[in-house]
Amino acid sequence: MAESYVGGLEVPDKVLGGFFDFVMPFFLKHCSSLLCPYDWVASETEVIAGGSKELMKIQYDRPQAMLNLMLGDSKFVYPKYSMGLWENGATTLEESQIHMIDDVIRKLGIQDGDHILDFGCGWGCVPNYILSKFPNVRFTGINLSHEQCEYMRRKMQDPESHLSSGRFTLVEGDLNEAHFDEKFDKILSIGVLCHIGNLTKTFKKLASFLKAEGRVFIHIITVRTPNNISSPFTHKYIFPHGRFWNHEAIPNCCQDLKLVQRWYLNGNNYRKTLTAWLNNFDKNQQAIKDLDYGMDYGRFRRIWRFYLIWFISIFASCDGEYNGNGQYLLVHA
Ligand SMILES: C[S@@+](CC[C@H](N)C(=O)[O-])C[C@H]1O[C@@H](n2cnc3c(N)ncnc32)[C@H](O)[C@@H]1O
Repeated sequence: MAESYVGGLEVPDKVLGGFFDFVMPFFLKHCSSLLCPYDWVASETEVIAGGSKELMKIQYDRPQAMLNLMLGDSKFVYPKYSMGLWENGATTLEESQIHMIDDVIRKLGIQDGDHILDFGCGWGCVPNYILSKFPNVRFTGINLSHEQCEYMRRKMQDPESHLSSGRFTLVEGDLNEAHFDEKFDKILSIGVLCHIGNLTKTFKKLASFLKAEGRVFIHIITVRTPNNISSPFTHKYIFPHGRFWNHEAIPNCCQDLKLVQRWYLNGNNYRKTLTAWLNNFDKNQQAIKDLDYGMDYGRFRRIWRFYLIWFISIFASCDGEYNGNGQYLLVHA
């Protein structure tokens, strides 16, 4: 079905979304093993993040003008490619992302003077916002996406950006090879561990970066099914080697870190975020259609619309209680 849609099959959004709304609750509740199409989805892989260069090419190093318009890019809130928090009354995408970062600040207990590592820092949205709130916080961000790093380098030269405060250090590099000489007070990772294949090794690495009294905050898409899930469509077109970890995977893979507290954020927050992204994508067609996607734009558009429409439905399924986001606060074991 995905291949037919990508190939040009005309299906109204309502029919496509309605189909997903009908089948996804059934899959999630009664036969989630069918959403686990490869052996590597079911268990941890040898490497920390397999196929990271392919992931950058297929997903993250796409034309930034398109991603920035889709995700939202303002003077204060840079593109943020993870769930916004709507349940506290946010009415816009930007507001929902601010609420989300405020929630992280509170749960991680960020204090002025902290040195924080953002493990998979995107466009620097979270560091920029937190630096604006705390005059003595320092941030280090690591990201493999060259295009996203270029965005941050431009901000690091922009006097209006908090990334130019001298308190932000950017490392363009792979999480697989991440190494830091100094240790951090806090580590946060938002929307990144779906690209990680080995949580145990990742936590060992994070523990080695953390001060003795430090804290780690993981925010990640999770699914309350017995198994992790993925699909041939997402693996091929959207997130190569990506998966939604089962909600218990993080506590189960913790050896070098210990779980202190955990939260589940209802999937309807992601439904609303993805709906805003889809609306932005659609309303900016004129501005984005001539960018270089390495393929015919019509095909690219169908791939991305299929992804967004499907994901809206997955997160809305079962009233958001199966597929949402897990948040985990960890300290040294
Ligand atoms: C879904 S985005 C989330 C970004 C950011 N944390 C946010 O909330 O906006 C995932 C980020 O992880 C980065 N990433 C994924 N795999 C990586 C790897 N192997 N090494 C370094 N960065 C990686 C991507 O480039 C992207 O910036």
